Amino acid sequence: MGEWDELYRENIIDHYKNPRCRGTLDHPDITYEDANPLCGDQLRIDIEVKDGKIEKIRHSGHGCSISQAAASMLCERMEGHPLEEVKALTKEDVLELLGIELGPVRLKCALLILKTLKAGVYGITQWPGEEEETK
Ligand code: FES
Repeated sequence: MGEWDELYRENIIDHYKNPRCRGTLDHPDITYEDANPLCGDQLRIDIEVKDGKIEKIRHSGHGCSISQAAASMLCERMEGHPLEEVKALTKEDVLELLGIELGPVRLKCALLILKTLKAGVYGITQWPGEEEETK
C-alpha cells in the first residue's frame, strides 16, 4: 500500500470515528432519508437554506465506515456553499474526497450520501453515475 493510500485510509477512519456535521436539525428546510438497497443501511440529511446557500447540513442514520465517512466529508465540504453546487456534484467528486479505489458494492456505500443529497435538494433519485453506465 502506498503512502498516499495509507493517508487516505487514515482520513476515512478519522471521519468515521469523529464524523463532521453529524446529527439532525430541529427546523430543516430540506430533509430526506434514503437507504442502500444492498444492505439496508440508512442515511438522513437535514439542511437549513439561507439566501440559496446551505447554511447548515447534518447527516444521521447508520451505515458502514465508507458510507459514514463519505457523508461526513461531503457535508463538511458543502456547508456554506450554494445549493446549486449540489446539482453539479458527481460521483468523481465523492471518490476524490475518499481518495481510494472502490469496487461496485463499496461504490454504492460511498454514493449513498450523494444520492440522498441530490434526492433531497432536486428530487433526483437515480444512483449517481448509473445514467452513464446503463447507456
Ligand atoms: Fe451499508 Fe456500506 S454496507 S452502506
